[in-house]
Amino acid sequence: MEFNISSEEQYRSYYQKSIQDPATFWADIATNFKWKQKWDEVLDYDFSIPKITWFKNAKLNITENCLDRHLEQNGDKIAIIWEPNNPNEDSIKLSYKELHTKVCQFANVLKNNGAKKGDRICLYMPMVPELAIAVLACARIGAVHSVVFAGFSSKALASRIDDAKCNILLTADGAFRGTKTIDLITIANAALEMSSSIETTIVLQRIKSDIKLKKQQKWWHNEIRNVAITAEPEIMDAEDLLFILYTSGSTGKPKGMVHTSAGYMVNTAFTFQNVFQYNKGDIYWCTADIGWITGHSYIIYGPLLQGATTVMFEGIPTFPDGGRFWEVVAKHKVNLFYTAPTAIRALEKFPIEMVNKHDLSSLKVLGTVGEPINEEAWHWYDTHIGKGNCPIVDTWWQTETGAMMISSLAGITPQKPTFATLPMIGIQPVLMDDNGNEITKNPAEGRLAIKFPWPSMARTIYGNHKRYKDTYFSTYKNKYFTGDGALRDANGFYRITGRVDDVVIVSGHNLGTAPIENAINELSEIVESAVVGFPHNIKGNALYAYVILHDGINGNDSIRADINKLISKHIGPIAKCDKIQFVKGLPKTRSGKIMRRILRKIASKEMDNLGDISTLLNPDVVQSIIKGCL
Ligand code: WTA
Repeated sequence: MEFNISSEEQYRSYYQKSIQDPATFWADIATNFKWKQKWDEVLDYDFSIPKITWFKNAKLNITENCLDRHLEQNGDKIAIIWEPNNPNEDSIKLSYKELHTKVCQFANVLKNNGAKKGDRICLYMPMVPELAIAVLACARIGAVHSVVFAGFSSKALASRIDDAKCNILLTADGAFRGTKTIDLITIANAALEMSSSIETTIVLQRIKSDIKLKKQQKWWHNEIRNVAITAEPEIMDAEDLLFILYTSGSTGKPKGMVHTSAGYMVNTAFTFQNVFQYNKGDIYWCTADIGWITGHSYIIYGPLLQGATTVMFEGIPTFPDGGRFWEVVAKHKVNLFYTAPTAIRALEKFPIEMVNKHDLSSLKVLGTVGEPINEEAWHWYDTHIGKGNCPIVDTWWQTETGAMMISSLAGITPQKPTFATLPMIGIQPVLMDDNGNEITKNPAEGRLAIKFPWPSMARTIYGNHKRYKDTYFSTYKNKYFTGDGALRDANGFYRITGRVDDVVIVSGHNLGTAPIENAINELSEIVESAVVGFPHNIKGNALYAYVILHDGINGNDSIRADINKLISKHIGPIAKCDKIQFVKGLPKTRSGKIMRRILRKIASKEMDNLGDISTLLNPDVVQSIIKGCL
């Protein structure tokens, strides 16, 4: 069976096959990879436990598929093009051969530092080639990588190190971000004070600071000196852990989503190939950070599995100016471009000359991910970036799903502005009504669930299988619950409408409101707080905090600043609140639960549409909040 889908008819026939006989279908797709040993059974699952096994007892190493497999025919082909934050610094190109060498070399560094199969290794790094190299080096030796986005605070980093009990930390002396430098090593050192499992830290010199390393900290450049440049890949079981990646939950601490080797490999490669309609020779650029799932699946694994050239960008869309993305597209002749709606909305505000002065004629396919795209941004992207000539794939998926779940295939299946459209091969989405029943008619609106396993789904939450079950498999029997709402049009096209739980997506980043409230509540002046999302014309959503102060304390901007400082300390600057309103009380149910629905409506200025508030414990408080908000 062809790995590439090249017509709508073929999409439909693959889809049917993948639903009617998933085991045969995926076994067929999986023959495109290199296995040390084939599987005994393609799929074994039970959502009620939940337990999911794909390619049972198969043996492989994903890096052999990302690297070694391409060496013979494509060793000199460019694997990674790295574009620095500062356009005056040289970009770096690594061929598959060079990347293979560097990965093997760093795999040996990790081993020399005591790392072995199954160890957890934390990466807190800038977007430099060494990050991709280190990720792959972990996978090469069977260590589990846990990449923490370099915008998180020391506390957030410490809690992730502790949760996964990582024994090695890979970090850098700093990171460049636009005109700023971020002092990663100081943040990492503060995290190390708060956590206990790290034995060794390896520090990359990125900003060339003259810091002194502490005991058990080593410079990256010293560690790679005189180290062998070959390393046999560790043989991994299909279900051995490949990585942990933390994502926010609606309550409590972040969830360490666990992804395993074989299913993740097959699914990320297959979706990369077909959604973008990748052709040999295409230059592909995904602007995400490797600290998020999009970077894992579609900067590193998906493209490298397919032998593509993947661009890695260290900087930000607005430095040195709002034309940087387009300058980089022209510079590297990017063909396939994948970004977030929040970036499109930010760049659309700049004079159109910023776009038009760059030659974008290399572009063939555009993509978006991370949040719903609004009509205006979609059309701007289509007209000004795609020049009306590039299909746009709006890809819906999650950290938990590992790979794209609902999306059109570029130029193959129909697109519809603001709609992710049709399920990927093997994906069985369903809409659920308020009573927990499946809605079968079209058009319809409901909560989005998935009723059958797919190869790249997360297998558990690290160290907390019960939470995995409660979060994803307890809302609806025998179904995975996504936490998103969606509507489906008469043609069966899906449009994702947003989260239906207490997660807010700000600039494409998932933020749970509970940890933000916990941070705010640490301030001694504060009794209680509630955080909700509200629409924002660039970020998609921004955060709105309602805060109750102790008697006798008056709210002012200095308290507001303290609140945001605390949030930055506990989580990171991405979680700062745009609006902070001091209130006398919060609307609560009779059982004492905060009615966030009402707070969301007020924050969104939908005051006429509050619904029935008479059952509240304290209906009067609503009017006073509205007054204070106007
Ligand atoms: C949202 C990112 C609308 C959604 C890959 C999901 C989207 C959450 C889209 C996961 C899209 C992602 N349209 N909403 N195309 N893609 N989302 O885990 O709410 O960072 O549940 O994974 O982003 O975010 P995460």
